[in-house]
Amino acid sequence: MGKTTLATNLAAYVASTGARTLLIDLDLMFGDVAISLQLAPMHSIRDVTQMQGRLDEQALASVVAVHEPSGLYVLAAPSDPGDADRVPAAVVEELLRVARQHYEYVFVDTPPSLTEQVLTACDLSDLTLLIATLDIPAVKNLRIAINTLDTLGASKDNRVVVVNRADAKVGLKPADVEAALKHSITARIPSSVSVPSSINRGVAVVLDEPRSPVAAAIRSIADTEIRARFGDVAQNGAKRAFGLLRSKK
Ligand SMILES: Nc1ncnc2c1ncn2[C@@H]1O[C@H](COP(=O)(O)OP(=O)(O)OP(=O)(O)O)[C@@H](O)[C@H]1O
Ligand SMILES: [Mg+2]
Repeated sequence: MGKTTLATNLAAYVASTGARTLLIDLDLMFGDVAISLQLAPMHSIRDVTQMQGRLDEQALASVVAVHEPSGLYVLAAPSDPGDADRVPAAVVEELLRVARQHYEYVFVDTPPSLTEQVLTACDLSDLTLLIATLDIPAVKNLRIAINTLDTLGASKDNRVVVVNRADAKVGLKPADVEAALKHSITARIPSSVSVPSSINRGVAVVLDEPRSPVAAAIRSIADTEIRARFGDVAQNGAKRAFGLLRSKK
């Protein structure tokens, strides 16, 4: 839980710093990036399928929406869940290759499952943010996802584990999660009623309530794990940095 929250807020914050940033909604059936940011996009990733083999900067620019408060560009998921299986992994690959060339940062929100499209995106990403919550099924599922990524030969160096709602008093502690995952925790995001209330208002909490602890935690992840790691590369004009979110609820 928290993938879309983190994807939208990280991307909106990075965009608000002035970096040319794209957020792609790869939750092809139930994507809710657009609604979370109060966008009514005319186009979606489904349109990219029609451009297969000839996707370029201009074509991509014609299907993204702009989130005015932050300047973030958004490529929405199809509005019809039936279109989800009409977006082949090869299209996702082409999309990410083109996007990486024309945006300083590309974020990808993912569905709860490791679909072929998600694995393709993982392959092409510089960083994978894995989100854990303090409940046993979520930790078990994240362990399975990590094992799957390992089996597929994904790099272990560019993974970061974030615990969402890390302050919940539910008997399981962040240290237990580290032990179960055999992976250290890089960042913790607190629970906050500001998260659902901002989603319901269609605003990014990181911009709307910048002083809240949840916004501070998200900014710190963006500054430390994304902008500090990849930012200087981006400033040199080589538009490379790429953040990816993936986790199991
Ligand atoms: N830190 C938090 N504090 C309070 N509520 C939160 C927090 N993070 C997420 N939530 C709530 O949990 C719900 C699910 O969050 P979100 O949509 O980000 O998860 P998700 O991983 O994208 O889910 P899905 O797999 O369904 O796409 C939302 O209603 C959101 O408001
Ligand atoms: Mg989601």
